[in-house]
Amino acid sequence: MSDRIEFKKAKRLKGEIVPPPDKSISHRAVILSSLAKGKSIVRSFLGAEDTMSTLNAFRKLGVKIEDKGKKIIIEGNGIRGLKEPEDIIDCGNSGTTARLMSGILAGNPFFSVLTGDDSLRQRPMARVINPLKEMGAEISGRGGDKYLPMAIKGRKLKAIKYAVPVASAQVKSALLLAGLYADGETEISEPIKSRDHTERMLSSYGAKIGIEGLKIKIKGGQKLKARNIDVPGDFSSAAFFIAAALLIPDSDITIKSVGINPTRTGLLDVLKSMGAEIKLTDIRDISGEPVADIHCKGGKRLNGVSITREQIPALIDEFPILCIAATQAGGVTTIRGAEELRVKESDRIKAMATEMRKMGVEAEELRDGISIKGNASLKGASINSYRDHRIAMAFSIAALTASGTTTIKDVSSVNISFPGFFQMLRKLSR
Ligand code: S3P
Repeated sequence: MSDRIEFKKAKRLKGEIVPPPDKSISHRAVILSSLAKGKSIVRSFLGAEDTMSTLNAFRKLGVKIEDKGKKIIIEGNGIRGLKEPEDIIDCGNSGTTARLMSGILAGNPFFSVLTGDDSLRQRPMARVINPLKEMGAEISGRGGDKYLPMAIKGRKLKAIKYAVPVASAQVKSALLLAGLYADGETEISEPIKSRDHTERMLSSYGAKIGIEGLKIKIKGGQKLKARNIDVPGDFSSAAFFIAAALLIPDSDITIKSVGINPTRTGLLDVLKSMGAEIKLTDIRDISGEPVADIHCKGGKRLNGVSITREQIPALIDEFPILCIAATQAGGVTTIRGAEELRVKESDRIKAMATEMRKMGVEAEELRDGISIKGNASLKGASINSYRDHRIAMAFSIAALTASGTTTIKDVSSVNISFPGFFQMLRKLSR
């Protein structure tokens, strides 16, 4: 794929699509199947760069994994069945791989090193290193235990009670996985509920876990049982098409089999409160996760909104596309309490403010968020995506509503979470 793409204004989006399988759930399916005893089959696995980082990590740890495209067959040897890797483990661009693996490796009696690409090596790791040290892990990272590479010498861990300072499913999950290796009961609490796929999946693999509000308890030494699992469609990938359909008049699309776990769908609530027409049908359950078909129609007037800290975790990955939706809403939209967005695959607050301004939007970067003046007439521009998949996809949607031609650079990053994104967009705009 050429690493830049050009767009012109689209007339409408029409048709039906199935989004790629959920990235978070695909990571976790590989992880828990690798730690379970026996053969697990993961159907509708997301074969994207991020999830392949997790799959390759477990191969390096001696787990037999057969990759048949969308179907993955994993022969787990139990939580004590991993082997010392012969080389460093490269987590690529994937924060989920690096952080969740750190929790597992901390409890395994061998030496391992985790690293990642230029972006991941700048992302904060103290948030997992510090609590894992409290559990007794021998673990250190570059820059005074702040960054990857991270070296881990696994030890016998002890259970701790830990209040995670920022709402982060990655940190919570790392500690729950470490808790499987700890003596006693680990208790984790989070300030605001983050995505709960790990909790749901741990119990479906047979682990006992206690959940009381924002507190989660897990006892060490539990065994996981192999199982077959189907991965639902990724709401965070569907989000780009939901917004596109709302912003391009005359659009009418159906997105099939999308995960609607309430810890992920904050964007739906926000868009509805802005006045959007979105309908969910055929609500069902797939492997312990709620799923629906989503129908969206364009052309309705949207109103700006104020979004506060409590709303952020459930729409954390939708910040870029929400910013684009806000440019077309009446009035000003402000998003606060979102400083976490500064330490994602790129500084997404800065990236969105800078690049939206190039398209003629009045956007103000705030320390913890952004303020966007709506009813903007977007004009084509040359957009830097900062090699961040979600920035590249958000501006692709913006480009479809803009006059003139928009060029987006470094778009191969979409393969991190959504191989086939541009083809799907083309199919709907025909
Ligand atoms: C993820 C958790 C979130 C999210 C990321 C995937 C996960 O990160 O932004 O894309 O799979 O657990 P944080 O835990 O850093 O908020």
